[in-house]
Amino acid sequence: MKVLIFGGAGQLGRCLQDRAPASWQVHAPTSAQVDITQPAQVAGAVASFVPDVLINASSYNAVDAAESDIDRAYAVNAHGPEHMARAARGCGARFFHVSTDYVFDGTRQSPYTEDDTPAPLSVYGQSKRAGELAVLAANPDAIVARTAWLFSEYGKNFVKTILALAAQNKLLTVVNDQVGSPTYAGDLADVLIGLAGRDAITGGIYHFAGREVVTWFEFAGAILAGVPHQLQPITTDDYPARARRPQYSALACRKLQALGFKPHALSENLDYVRSRLALIDGKLAHAVQEGVGNHRR
Ligand SMILES: NC(=O)c1ccc[n+]([C@@H]2O[C@H](COP(=O)([O-])OP(=O)(O)OC[C@H]3O[C@@H](n4cnc5c(N)ncnc54)[C@H](OP(=O)(O)O)[C@@H]3O)[C@@H](O)[C@H]2O)c1
Repeated sequence: MKVLIFGGAGQLGRCLQDRAPASWQVHAPTSAQVDITQPAQVAGAVASFVPDVLINASSYNAVDAAESDIDRAYAVNAHGPEHMARAARGCGARFFHVSTDYVFDGTRQSPYTEDDTPAPLSVYGQSKRAGELAVLAANPDAIVARTAWLFSEYGKNFVKTILALAAQNKLLTVVNDQVGSPTYAGDLADVLIGLAGRDAITGGIYHFAGREVVTWFEFAGAILAGVPHQLQPITTDDYPARARRPQYSALACRKLQALGFKPHALSENLDYVRSRLALIDGKLAHAVQEGVGNHRR
């Protein structure tokens, strides 16, 4: 199977490449090779590789910066995915797109289902919601996988930030009134790979997130299990940010659960990520050589 991945250098993109079955022929151009905001570049990459499956792992994820970088956020999160959806449909490739829990306003107190009405609070969330709608309008067979609080051994994420700060013996103040579902990018990659291997999946929105529902403070505590640390809970008001975030954005993942997909436990995923990152002399260092020991299970 020929699989084209846009955003291959990101967390999800790296995990997808690590876990891709040996039978897959993967092409994952960097943003320098294919700028997904340029329709001609997207169409050209699709036309020259002729994939069976196209996966969009690219995104503009800077939630606060998006508040003043609106055109760029929409170009990457809405218009680029629309170009991909159209190009995939044109060549008969199945298209997988990824969205976010931040499409919800967070006023609920129980996990959001695929049928709940989005009402994003931020430009990031609005641009991602616009992407969902544009993708499904251009290609109703597309799979849109919403995920949440993504972490991995790659790129920038909350787990790596917390470990690095704890290694500096700093007092960590972490928001304790926003609730969500931390999700390991490798678990999400496994789901997309599994779905790509099945033909009879109906297009539409699917939720996939970690099974634990926690605050950022509780997540930080789980990350630092067994690591000396000083952690103090604060409120959202104590940590002013440019973008509004949902207070509650856990995702219910019944559609994918019914298809047999479920995440590993958070503690297991954190153990795995920590095993790939080593705390050496109080500093966070990469313990894993690129490309070595990639397949986890
Ligand atoms: N991270 C989270 O906490 C989180 C939460 C909920 C949902 N999600 C969703 O999960 C998906 C994967 O997120 P992630 O954390 O893996 O993302 P990531 O690590 O931030 O990677 C995003 C990738 O997109 C690429 N990209 C950005 N603009 C591009 C452009 N114009 N052309 C081509 N590539 C471009 C980036 O390339 P460069 O580095 O070269 O710019 C980068 O490789 C996204 O859809 C995201 O919205 C993430």
